[in-house]
Amino acid sequence: MCGIVGYTGPRQACGVLLGGLTRLEYRGYDSAGVAVVSDGEMALVRRVGKLENLKAAVAGDPVVGTAGIGHTRWATHGAPTEDNAHPHRDCSGRLAIVHNGIIENFAELRTELAAAGHAIRSETDTEVVAHLIEALYEGDLVAAVQKATARLHGSYAIAAVHLDHPDLLVAARKDSPLIIGLGDGENIVASDIPAVLEHTRRVAVLHDGQVAVVTPERVTVHDASGAEVEPEVMVVEWDLDAAEKGGYEDFMLKEIFEQPKALRETLRGRVGEDGRIQMSELQMSDEELAAIERVFIVACGTSYHAGLVAKLLIEQWARVPVEVDVSSEFRYRDPIVDRNTLVVAITQSGETADTLAGVREARERGARVFAVTNVVGSRVTREADGVIYTHAGPEIGVAATKTFTAQIAALSVLALRLAQARATLEPEQVASLWAELATVPDVVEAILADAQDIEACAREYTQAVSSLFLGRGMGVPVAMEGALKLKEISYIHAEAYPAGEMKHGPIALITPDVPVVVVATQGHTYEKVVSNIQEVRARGARVIAVATYGDEAIRSYAEHVLWIPQVSEALSAIPAAVPLQLLAYHIAKLRGCNVDQPRNLAKSVTVE
Ligand code: F6R
Repeated sequence: MCGIVGYTGPRQACGVLLGGLTRLEYRGYDSAGVAVVSDGEMALVRRVGKLENLKAAVAGDPVVGTAGIGHTRWATHGAPTEDNAHPHRDCSGRLAIVHNGIIENFAELRTELAAAGHAIRSETDTEVVAHLIEALYEGDLVAAVQKATARLHGSYAIAAVHLDHPDLLVAARKDSPLIIGLGDGENIVASDIPAVLEHTRRVAVLHDGQVAVVTPERVTVHDASGAEVEPEVMVVEWDLDAAEKGGYEDFMLKEIFEQPKALRETLRGRVGEDGRIQMSELQMSDEELAAIERVFIVACGTSYHAGLVAKLLIEQWARVPVEVDVSSEFRYRDPIVDRNTLVVAITQSGETADTLAGVREARERGARVFAVTNVVGSRVTREADGVIYTHAGPEIGVAATKTFTAQIAALSVLALRLAQARATLEPEQVASLWAELATVPDVVEAILADAQDIEACAREYTQAVSSLFLGRGMGVPVAMEGALKLKEISYIHAEAYPAGEMKHGPIALITPDVPVVVVATQGHTYEKVVSNIQEVRARGARVIAVATYGDEAIRSYAEHVLWIPQVSEALSAIPAAVPLQLLAYHIAKLRGCNVDQPRNLAKSVTVE
């Protein structure tokens, strides 16, 4: 949520800032701004709406200067107006800051600063921080930022510039991501790696409580006590191409089509020469894995749906009870979690505030916590006991697609590893399931190669106001994910239900105007699903079925069939999810929606 960029070096800062913001626009896109130290003045340009508006303003009136900060906003305090857009300045206009996060004690600070004579112009929590730094400033910006952050409650990633120190950026973080791209004679602060990749692949990760002092030549990092600490530096392996559209109309479409590669990468190296499933990240022996009494999965949104798939696999293969909780519920209830519980936190971004809180809660209760994430160096990687990475590459589209299927792939391996350790499956069964899992990337490739008809199907449902998604067993989380994809990018109301529950209420919604999407792939409840299709058809519904090639009978039950190859029921979630991603994509595009940046959403939810 919110994207931050800061630049100091020999080049014109504004171009670098706008380039970085373009790559961070997925984090927030209701307003944007830049502040550049410009010949003894703080040049400030802010615009409401997409980054394009800011770019147009700057093109008409260029901002000159070699150090500055920029921001793309996802509003938390105050509407998306120009006054509320970042950067924010202090009273003197000599200091400017950008911020991502939520300052929980901002009202109290605002009252205090206003009483001391500060003129606060916006409704934001961020401007309060600018004035707080001003109040604490005695010529040393680093010291002032350090003192100010010590007074903040909540989460923040901050970058500040001051006219007294024309080439200095000061950055600080707590509970919101911040990295520093280390260049040659220039350095760039940013919320996420894509913003710096055009310039460098060497990245320092700022940790909670740390403050970075950044000049063109040098980056030093200090801990909360002010002591200098060695920054954690990593070299990013993927390149800018991976974070660009590469000829696709949108990131979402590109990412849907990247799924075979993401799955292959995620599954790579998971079986040893001895044929055993490998998951060394767990750092647990077979005995320790066998001693697990319960698995608890915590996650939000799409990652939660991956968790529901994992529950079915772990219970079926490893015979351990699994509970799946939405992180925001888990953290505030009193879950039964102890040292014999394995907690799996699923978060593609690794920065989701509620999931991180769930991780802390579980660890406090003595559980061993593993994170499944796509982002190297993200917050969850430092909070969990171990990390299982999905190797999907950067996901820029706000709607999760390739990270969802990659999560399921990684969790399938985890389920096999547990089954192997607990001897709940014979070695031959593990080998045969692994062999089939390894073919899933090819299956997805085949689905994508034969997906031309989905757009025509989508065309018939663009006017729908409401829709129902049904499935049984593995089809339930797939239906839930299909409904989430449709609602979040097309704004058509979509509700998912286990098909067997339909008679207990949702069937009342059925009319010819409410399309019903049914996951009707082959499996032990297939006949039951077909009966449910008949029931909704009898009430006038138009049915879109996800079904298996060769199932000719389904044609007579459904208006449209989205085909997938035959796979075993346990492994059907990934293939069945793909046509539903494309259905949502095409419906949203035909309705003229911005699929990469749906309204009100942000890619990583770093606030509660
Ligand atoms: C939906 C979507 C969200 C995320 C959720 C959790 O397409 O992307 O529902 O899945 O915000 O995010 P992570 O996985 O980053 O914790």
